[in-house]
Amino acid sequence: MKDIRLQIPCRADYIDIVRVCLYSIASKLSFTYEEIEDMKVAVSEACNNAVLHGSPELADNSIDIRFQPSDTSLTIKVTNKGPAFPHDEALVKAAPLQEGSIRDLPVGGLGIFLMQALMDEVAVETKDQTTVVTLMKTKKQTE
Ligand SMILES: Nc1ncnc2c1ncn2[C@@H]1O[C@H](COP(=O)(O)OP(=O)(O)OP(=O)(O)O)[C@@H](O)[C@H]1O
Ligand SMILES: [Mg+2]
Repeated sequence: MKDIRLQIPCRADYIDIVRVCLYSIASKLSFTYEEIEDMKVAVSEACNNAVLHGSPELADNSIDIRFQPSDTSLTIKVTNKGPAFPHDEALVKAAPLQEGSIRDLPVGGLGIFLMQALMDEVAVETKDQTTVVTLMKTKKQTE
């Protein structure tokens, strides 16, 4: 399957459209129900962050979602305009929580933790007022 691109207004009430698209693409690729649910939560968190922490004042404010399927995985790139943030710090801060208790989680700051827990790879790139969050999930071997 070739890459698929979706552009939505940078608003919370459009994020369900991303989930519907993800569901149909991941189903076509034969991901399991659990894998699809994991990806839905992760991509929703990335889009929520774009809405909450992006630049709502921009007239052409939108979120670009690029689905990149392969035989064995699905990569989803979520791009938004907005200020850079210390993503290395946020990723490192979230990582040790995977081994800790849910009680140790701070209020807020759950989104990146969830993305890391649910996806096989998470990368954040911020430059020139553009943030790209890359989420990758590999298909479980069924045999
Ligand atoms: N797309 C983005 N643009 C700018 N800053 C971002 C973006 N995504 C994340 N951040 C920054 O990284 C921090 C951590 O993100 P994370 O999703 O883990 O937590 P949160 O959004 O603050 O809270 P929660 O997701 O639990 O409601 C955010 O508080 C924000 O400062
Ligand atoms: Mg968040």
